[in-house]
Amino acid sequence: MNTMETVIVNLSETTEYDSIYRSAGEVIRKGGLVAFPTETVYGIGANALDEEAILKIYEAKGRPSDNPLIMHISDVDWLADYAARISDKALSLMEAFWPGPLTMVFDKTDKVPARITGGLDTVAIRMPSHPVAKGIIRHAGVPVAAPSANLSGKPSPTRGQHVIDDLSGRVDMIVNGGKAELGLESTVLDVTGEVPCILRPGSITRSMIEEVIGPVSYDAHLKDASMIPKSPGMKYRHYAPKGELRIVSGDNEDSVIGYIKEEARRLMKDGRSVGIITPEHAKEAFDASMIESIGHIDNPKEIGSNLFKILRKMDDRGIDDIFSFEFKGEEVTVAIMNRLIKAAGHRIIRVD
Ligand code: TXA
Ligand code: MG
Repeated sequence: MNTMETVIVNLSETTEYDSIYRSAGEVIRKGGLVAFPTETVYGIGANALDEEAILKIYEAKGRPSDNPLIMHISDVDWLADYAARISDKALSLMEAFWPGPLTMVFDKTDKVPARITGGLDTVAIRMPSHPVAKGIIRHAGVPVAAPSANLSGKPSPTRGQHVIDDLSGRVDMIVNGGKAELGLESTVLDVTGEVPCILRPGSITRSMIEEVIGPVSYDAHLKDASMIPKSPGMKYRHYAPKGELRIVSGDNEDSVIGYIKEEARRLMKDGRSVGIITPEHAKEAFDASMIESIGHIDNPKEIGSNLFKILRKMDDRGIDDIFSFEFKGEEVTVAIMNRLIKAAGHRIIRVD
């Protein structure tokens, strides 16, 4: 593919925002594809009520897929058309976290096309807080299906340039709004049952949700999300960089550093290039040409917002072998480790 002419709009202080929202909204309403920033990651948006348009999303991402998509709305009034039942707990969560990085899974109405839900009886809906996302959806006047705007197999895009790299020639329009602030996809919470269930951890953490509605659970595959899984070996690679990524875990940081240094030396002797994802405080321990500092260990928001950018940078630099520290502490690291472990294809090395 790469045949389409893509209009790239670089937002700046002098941009006439309303006219961009209007033209982007019109492209979507008429069945085209627009990539735009949200507060989590960039999305490729299409009219969620138009099955043909939804098919184009999969084509643009380079993968036929039955993975269900999130329907994005700009106004809570739209919800009743698509969610068949809205529980009191869901209402409280909407009040607390919408607009924002929380996606909720509801029983769907007949107005939701099967193409967006992959044939499920439920639909995932979110109301983003990013002004550009809101503006475009509002002007489209229809709910917008929007998966992350990466080519299949690549880390989610958190900078406009990532989207330009991946999707030029594949979508009608790219709205470049710089950095997507949070850098991790939204929390996905199933609110169809009595006890809501977190399907994908994100910046809205379990305890933030529980503070509003009481106990929620983690989906079975996330039960250990706060910990490194005991039995690596799942082959599922998701946000994968091209290089071979391993997470090095251990309670003693000196041992972690020692292990990575030793391995780096061994691999480089074999002619391989090595990259290291390190917290700011540990970077001095390594050769400067190898490191990518992901941020300060006591600032998980910074780490979350840099993660996918750094994975992409490793690819741009053609790195063969990547080592990452493990990140623990505040609860948002559950989401960070969830993405990092997938990117590493569950390759985790314990050094204690
Ligand atoms: O932050 C985000 O959510 C971004 C931005 C663009 O809004 N979007 C995003 O979309 O991450 P995507 O397609 O990459 O991920 C959607 C997630 C998948 O894990 C999918 O399985 C889940 O939402 N999902 C969608 N519909 C669902 C449903 N009916 N039931 C359960 N999970 C669902
Ligand atoms: Mg995605």
